[in-house]
Amino acid sequence: MSAIKVTGEKKLVIVSGRAHPQLAADVAAELGTELTPADIRTFASTEIYARYGESVRGADVFVIQSHTRPVNEWLMEQLIMIDALKRASAKRITVVAPYFPYARQDKKGRGREPISARLVADMFKTAGANRIMSVDLHAAQIQGFFDGPVDHLFAMPVLLEHFQAKLDPTTLTVVSPDMGRVKVADNWSDKLGAPLAIIHKRRDPRVHNEVSVHEIVGEVEGRMCLLVDDLIDTGRTIVKAAEALKEQGALGVVVAATHAVFSDPATELLQSDFIDSVVVTDTLPVPEEKRWDRLTILPIAPLLARAIHEVFDEGSVTSMFDGAA
Ligand code: R5P
Repeated sequence: MSAIKVTGEKKLVIVSGRAHPQLAADVAAELGTELTPADIRTFASTEIYARYGESVRGADVFVIQSHTRPVNEWLMEQLIMIDALKRASAKRITVVAPYFPYARQDKKGRGREPISARLVADMFKTAGANRIMSVDLHAAQIQGFFDGPVDHLFAMPVLLEHFQAKLDPTTLTVVSPDMGRVKVADNWSDKLGAPLAIIHKRRDPRVHNEVSVHEIVGEVEGRMCLLVDDLIDTGRTIVKAAEALKEQGALGVVVAATHAVFSDPATELLQSDFIDSVVVTDTLPVPEEKRWDRLTILPIAPLLARAIHEVFDEGSVTSMFDGAA
């Protein structure tokens, strides 16, 4: 007769790095739970230390970190948090990285370049992560960089709900600011019942963060244009696109983007007269000084919380999107 007691109880643990504690707190609140306390510190040498305040043995743990600047520090912190969980016998560790760090380095554009997004996935795996959850990956194939399940969530339902009541599909054109966003913009165009236009953007591979617009394919004259992108970094892609749309006779330009990276000079550029409004989510923190009156920030916590619930409960993440992907 075995003396081992078997119970079916599962233990959910949510822990947060220090990059965007509000987001993690919002996720925990949505789930009706609290964050597990952790002592995370940076030593004088800049090395990071992490220890959990409670046992995580046998737990299903979700490690939330937002990869805002300084990206490398927050990435390293999350890796150290995962290592501590692994060594404390957590049963399953899920990396929650709403904005996947280094996602734009997903292939070699030129010889002798790294594929840093793959390196990040490898580091998560080496640290002890069993699965990854992220929102609007820059390229869907990043899912294949991690040898394990990846829950790829889409912010589109969150953003769409905001726009659906505000925009008239009969005068609206959905615009992809470059070739990379065409599939996503096409989904938006289907959902909103509005036509699609595509901007042919060019970058000089030798100069980072510079863009130029070559041509616009599609009907934009006399129409309200909704530019959709996965992220806004310096803002140059969006502002150049908005300028080009206005030059072609667009009535107005509104912008929807998931990740507000907002590196300088994004907030200055985005306040351009060519742009009526910008809507983003809070996958990344947006400090007060980077906010302005025509910026709307939508909460991503309900989406993350629902996905965490589905994963913990062995439910279906796919069912959350119902054809939005
Ligand atoms: C490009 O492929 C991305 O989807 C974004 O459009 C781009 O990285 C945004 O960068 P920035 O705001 O600096 O132009």
